[in-house]
Amino acid sequence: MIAIDTLIGKMTLAEKLGQMTMTASSYAVTGPVIAGDSTQAIKDGIIGNLLNMVGADHVREMQRLAVQESRLGIPLLIGFDVVHGHRTLFPIPLGEASLFDPRMWASTARESAKEAAADGIAMTFAPMLDVARDPRWGRSAEGPGEDPWLAARIAESKVHGFQGSDLAAPDALAATAKHFCAYGAVTGGRDYASVDVSERTLHEVYLPPFAAAVATGVAAIMPSFTDLAGIPMTANAALLDGWLRRRLGFDGVIVTDYNAIGELLHHGVAADLAGAATLALKAGVDIDMMADAYRRGLPVALDRGWVTVAEIDAAVRRILLLKKRLGLFDDPYRRGAVPETAAALASRRGLARLVASRAIVMLKNDREALPLDVGLPRLAVVGPLADGSTDMRGPWWGAAAPDGQITVLAALRRVLSASRVLHEKGVDIDGGDLNGVAAALAVCDQADTIVLCVGEAASMSGEAASRAHLDLPGRQREFADAVFERAAQQRKRVIVVLFSGRPLVVPWLAEKADALLAAWFLGSEAGNAVADVLFGHVSPSGRTPVSWARAAGQVPIFFGARPTGRPFDPMDHFTSKYLDVPNDPLYPFGHGLTYGRFAYSNLRVPRDGITEHDTIVIRVDVQNDGGRPAEETVFLFTHDTLASVSRPVLELKGFAKIHLNPGARGTVTLMLPAQELRFLGVNLEPVFEPGEVEILVGPCADRNQLLADRIRLV
Ligand code: NOJ
Repeated sequence: MIAIDTLIGKMTLAEKLGQMTMTASSYAVTGPVIAGDSTQAIKDGIIGNLLNMVGADHVREMQRLAVQESRLGIPLLIGFDVVHGHRTLFPIPLGEASLFDPRMWASTARESAKEAAADGIAMTFAPMLDVARDPRWGRSAEGPGEDPWLAARIAESKVHGFQGSDLAAPDALAATAKHFCAYGAVTGGRDYASVDVSERTLHEVYLPPFAAAVATGVAAIMPSFTDLAGIPMTANAALLDGWLRRRLGFDGVIVTDYNAIGELLHHGVAADLAGAATLALKAGVDIDMMADAYRRGLPVALDRGWVTVAEIDAAVRRILLLKKRLGLFDDPYRRGAVPETAAALASRRGLARLVASRAIVMLKNDREALPLDVGLPRLAVVGPLADGSTDMRGPWWGAAAPDGQITVLAALRRVLSASRVLHEKGVDIDGGDLNGVAAALAVCDQADTIVLCVGEAASMSGEAASRAHLDLPGRQREFADAVFERAAQQRKRVIVVLFSGRPLVVPWLAEKADALLAAWFLGSEAGNAVADVLFGHVSPSGRTPVSWARAAGQVPIFFGARPTGRPFDPMDHFTSKYLDVPNDPLYPFGHGLTYGRFAYSNLRVPRDGITEHDTIVIRVDVQNDGGRPAEETVFLFTHDTLASVSRPVLELKGFAKIHLNPGARGTVTLMLPAQELRFLGVNLEPVFEPGEVEILVGPCADRNQLLADRIRLV
């Protein structure tokens, strides 16, 4: 057993600062690279952690240098962005959020952990828990969507999944909840821009997923690049040391984002690296990723008397403790020791296909345009995303090869045979000419049905990928319009498969498509998953975790808004509205059609006398009036109609699933601990106020589609 304090007692200052430093290898670069030879630095014990090192052999060799050739033999901590898979890719997180399935969320994280650990990795910079209500922000793609309650559930599943039951297991990864916090609220949706949200919104919207991650035992937390009301998060002592460590009791490691300590200079809160390093250390930051500010700045800060050795030791202790919890001192080579079996890889691929098919959200399906008949003679598959393996990876692709994803075209050719599938891409995703349109229309002429694959390139979402225009990029709209026109003349159906890292603003596309599938970026099995849904092998069951705006000017638009004193009234001009677009979204949160047709009835709630300690049991009957078996996701919302603080018009508090054959009826039970009806009162302290609360149950966050009743709290 390693005695951490004894070890710290033996360490030089340089060795301590080495433990507090994480340096990149060149595999995946997201910022400036530190010059110099990390190999020598590892042997010298002055780099204690690496990121972006991929491959069991490489990792083993680096670990050998640290363990056998450095003075104290402290193993390295090796981290990587295993965000939605490592070599096998699952859908992007926003797509996975659409599953509303905690078990699946956990199992994809578990499988990602196994695969990454087999590659020698011990830590992932995931899950990303930033609630995002502004689709201009490209990083919406990496996160859980617009709702804090949903984000908290995802946090729990992901932390469980990545870390498993024992962090020391050879297939466990230390999870990093990021980016702490409110990164999703960057001004104007522009990445890295300033954040300023109210204290209430911070606590009600942006912090709950992190609280859930901490309660689940997350090993690490990464502060966001951004400032919050003037205090950069990397230097935010009140939230890192105060809220996370002292209030929540978080005892894990805080690792910066890439070069974030260095960027404190640009934020204008530190004059030099010594000042920046001091701010970060005092805020509670343990590991400096890629700024080299601790190694270069803290010796100066010590000389100036700005920091103490005890403060440095406290950080080193937390880092060594994490290495110990990961089992690295016992056996630094435990991860990556045994290659995975072919059977494990195959079953993971199966999971990727299943999850990808369930992440697809069927936004529209007019006159049962879908599913397609496998007997159809000829299918045209057009559009720039029909055959784009690289784009199917989406933002963050771990160590997945660019050409390793199944495209829609490849999958459809497999289902229908190559001779029955005709393909032309028509236009490029972001290209400027329409030269390919005629050829694509010619292909449409020969087919019975058209599958139009449009959307964004993978590089248009993720980090540093904000967009001000949320329509289809390039000349895709002109192309799509030409296809719709030709299809209308020939009375052919157009099925649109829309790939994106955000809810695009495409009302025109939604109007013209016979069926519209939101396919996000679905990962390694993208094409097969799309084919499974198109041909009805899988009834679509995904539900959108974000509202889809009708116009970019509605952004931010989300279901959990607070009421207005002047609710919209078409007869009264001075009410809350736009002059040129309705208030409501094109598709609400939770929307998603299936191949069944569900009717809700008989909502049952306990009426009176509910105390804070009760669990409220809510039941509703659901019947499948459609012609095919399908799975319905049932949502539970509440609305506190009269409280000391104006409460959101809908708050998500639960969901459940039911699978029903045609004509079958079932009862769904939702359990609501009354404690969940507490909210932050006037003084931002939790209160449980007596009175009526509306209970709303149904298929999405559109009040018109929900059954409602009231309960009374005492
Ligand atoms: C920058 C990103 O903001 C963060 O999410 C990521 O983990 C690091 N780069 C490391 O790649």
